[in-house]
Amino acid sequence: MKNRKPLLAGNWKMYKTCAEAVDTAKKLAELVTKVQDRDIMIAPPFTALFAVSEVLKNTNISIGSQNIFWEKEGAYTGEVSGQMLVSCGCKYVIIGHSERRQYFHETDETVNKRIKSALLYGLIPVFCVGETEKERESNETFSVLDKQVQNGLKDFTLNDLKTLVIAYEPVWAIGTGKTATSAQAQEVHAFIRSLIEKKFDADLASKMRILYGGSVKPENISELMSMPDVDGGLVGGASLKPETFSKIVTYN
Ligand code: PGA
Repeated sequence: MKNRKPLLAGNWKMYKTCAEAVDTAKKLAELVTKVQDRDIMIAPPFTALFAVSEVLKNTNISIGSQNIFWEKEGAYTGEVSGQMLVSCGCKYVIIGHSERRQYFHETDETVNKRIKSALLYGLIPVFCVGETEKERESNETFSVLDKQVQNGLKDFTLNDLKTLVIAYEPVWAIGTGKTATSAQAQEVHAFIRSLIEKKFDADLASKMRILYGGSVKPENISELMSMPDVDGGLVGGASLKPETFSKIVTYN
């Protein structure tokens, strides 16, 4: 038995207008109303955060954003701060997604600053790590993850990280339909947990939720969740339709 509450998170990426997001959120809330033993989060685009959070008030679904900027406020055209996210009803924030790293030049250093800022505002960071196909093929998976975890969590204390969630998302599995096998996911999740234990301590490591992301669907969630170190899923494509995502949330 795992002592960690599963977290099923939907990352809507750059999909859905405000009205579509509200409609999807309403339908999802109806479908998962009975779920109590797991946490549910959706991350709509910034433009729909407030409207979706209004609709999900008093439901069992929390809201996350897909990014955060580290300054409190200022002349930073196009950026969104932690206090703004909190004011829109956010509880979680996805940080360091591979699409941010790949297309928007995010580095381990900026990821580290974003995590710091999230914690400052009481947001739960969902810190994403993962290797590319090329790195996996050249046997660099563990060294890449080690570097991402060490640098991303640089200068934090044990106490800072009590709420932190890590998402292992192999880049080759994102949006490709190529899910990691449950054994591949388990191997990496156990490795990440051991890194946390070494860097911080065993208690924090044993309590930290590590999600798997990369082509999660209703057909593979149960198998992934049966692994001892897989504590939930970060779901992209399959979170966009309420019927499909609700099947993932209610896996057994
Ligand atoms: P996917 O995306 O489920 O569409 O593969 C996962 C993610 O990017 O979080």
